[in-house]
Amino acid sequence: MANIPTPHIQAREGEIAESILLPGDPLRAKYIAETFLEGAVQFNAVRNMLGFTGFYKGKRVSVMGTGMGPASIGIYSYELIHFYGCRNLIRIGTAGSMREDVKIKELVFGMGACTDSNYIKNFYLPGDFAPICSYELLEKAVNAAREKGIRYHVGNILSSDMFYRRPMPEGSLTWKDMGVMAVEMEAAALYANAAEAGANALAMLTISDSLVTGESTSSEERQTAFTDMMEVALSIA
Ligand code: HPA
Repeated sequence: MANIPTPHIQAREGEIAESILLPGDPLRAKYIAETFLEGAVQFNAVRNMLGFTGFYKGKRVSVMGTGMGPASIGIYSYELIHFYGCRNLIRIGTAGSMREDVKIKELVFGMGACTDSNYIKNFYLPGDFAPICSYELLEKAVNAAREKGIRYHVGNILSSDMFYRRPMPEGSLTWKDMGVMAVEMEAAALYANAAEAGANALAMLTISDSLVTGESTSSEERQTAFTDMMEVALSIA
């Protein structure tokens, strides 16, 4: 294909599977490949954004880091979809809870992703696009979480441009007031890219900290919650 390798991904044609897991951290991608995949082969190291393809229970699956924020996941997911033929893109990450009922270590599936980013404004649509996940992937993920007895929530999340967000001006409506469960930084851009290309995307997130209580997870707790999420993600990939 004329467009590959891309400026950001050095894989050759056919080296990336149709289903790909997308953690933000490239070292997490390496850990997943080494821990959960059989016969994993590295396909990317450009900018240290490590990517691997291997097998999970006989199914060919890839995993690659995305970096943080809409700009970064926007680049990688665009190239994976348009130039490498990826069809199922599953973001696996962490999020900060915005609600009392969404607790540390629990799993959140982003059915919709609100955003304060300009990423989708650059699509020049005549109104506001509602970024949503693939229903098919969501249904499979919910079934897998139920089967494994993992606590999960399904609903709206916020994909923010800013990790260190400013307090809202007094009296303004908050995302929490609108029922938004948790904040992360990538899902909306991923959902918009997938929508334009007719691909399937889902963001699944473990709650690493709470914006309500100020709690955060220990690295040990994060690891257990992460393994739960990985089992769900790999079973639907
Ligand atoms: N903000 C944005 N992204 C995050 C957060 C947060 O509080 N926690 C984990 N990912």
